[in-house]
Formats: sequence, structure tokens, C-alpha cells
Amino acid sequence: MMRINKYLSLCGVTSRRGAEIFIKKKRVTVNDLTVEKPGLVIDETTDQVKVDGTKVEPVEHKYYILLNKPRMVLTTLHDPFHRPTVGYYVKKGPARVYPVGRLDYDTEGALLMTNDGELAYRLAHPKFEVEKIYLAEIDGPIKTGELDRLSKGVKLEDGHLGKAEAEILYASLKTSRIRLTLTEGHKREVKQLMKGIGHPVRRLKRVSFAGLKVDNLNPGRWRFLNVNEVKRLQNLVGIK
Ligand code: URA
Repeated sequence: MMRINKYLSLCGVTSRRGAEIFIKKKRVTVNDLTVEKPGLVIDETTDQVKVDGTKVEPVEHKYYILLNKPRMVLTTLHDPFHRPTVGYYVKKGPARVYPVGRLDYDTEGALLMTNDGELAYRLAHPKFEVEKIYLAEIDGPIKTGELDRLSKGVKLEDGHLGKAEAEILYASLKTSRIRLTLTEGHKREVKQLMKGIGHPVRRLKRVSFAGLKVDNLNPGRWRFLNVNEVKRLQNLVGIK
């Protein structure tokens, strides 16, 4: 017998603390009944636990995969409406791995996937300020002065102050291209920031997540991280 939070972390879905958020969002079922409270005790030998409709089981080995997520693909393993998901691209991998954070349906780029729940939880948590770098194609001609607003902060829908360091790569009357570096990670943060300063995003790509770049991966391709890369990520978020 064990608490559902512990079981989910053994399955690599998330950390014990992160499990509370999964449960709050009603993503977890036990024997097809939605779990309402994080403290629920289960019998791991007989109960069937599912996350987003997919059965989960304790992991024996931890795997770390960097996927170059294509555009028009959902950052989830399973979609009830059968839209394309990142799960499809890593299906032939060695084990079920989960996305660390999210990229929007129409965003492409670096997406880390793993069954190491604790590392995933920490890397996705704003508190650890993991660096993400994006290339954005935006509406209209952007001027350097406008980028100052991004570094000072723009209010997001959820009340948080979103911030980014940005540089202009190209600007014309119709469209501009900029590189943004963010360290928190709120929902649709780049799009909200850019809309907030009057330059909605047309196209978005994450070129780097926690220093992991997708330069050599075509969209839809993935690779394993090497031991040094995993150690570096662990150091970054205080895992010994
Ligand atoms: N910011 C966004 O607006 N979308 C993403 O997919 C990632 C960051």
C-alpha cells in the first residue's frame, strides 16, 4: 500500500509534489475513477493507475530524450480526439517518457522527455529559472526601445509578470525576427509578452532548453542525452 503521490513519482510521471497538480487537474484515475485528493492510498499490486487515460507503472531505468517537436503536434502522450501528439514520435523509444513542461500546438523545437519525475518537476518549476531560448517571427517592425519593456516585465493573463531578454535579428515593415531568453515559464508566455507590446507572434521555435539545442535534429527526430548532459541538468536544479 502507498500514497498515490509516491506511486506517480515511482512511475516517473512527476515528483511527489508535482503529483498534487496532476490530481488537481483531474488527470489521474485509479480503477477508472478520478482521484480527487492527493493523500489517496492505493494497493500498487492490484489497483490500475492511469494518467491522461494511459496506464502507468513504476520505472526500472531512467531515460532522457531530446525531441525536436514539430509544429501542429500536442505536447501530451495521448489525445482523446486523435490529434498528433509528441507520444507518437517517441513511441519507438525504450520506455514511456513524459514531456518536461509544454510547447504550444503550433510551436516547434526543443522538448525534453523523461521518466525521471523529480528532475522533470524541477526543470519545469519557475523557481529553478531554467533558461529557454526562442526564435520568434512577429508582426510589424520592432524597435530596440520596445524590447526594454520585455526586460522590465509585462503583465500576463494569470497576473504574473512575464520577462524576457530579447534581441532583434531582422526587422522590416511587415514582420521582424527576434531571439528571446526566458527563465520562468508561464503558459503561452512568449505569445502573451509579444501581444502585450503590440507585436503578436506569427511563428515560434524553442531553439534551446536548459542548454540543450536542437540544431542537429530535424523536426520529429529525437536523441538520447549523454551522461554528462544528464549530470549537468541535475546540478542545475540541485539534484546530487
Ligand atoms: N511561449 C509560448 O507562447 N508558447 C510556447 O509554446 C512556449 C513559450
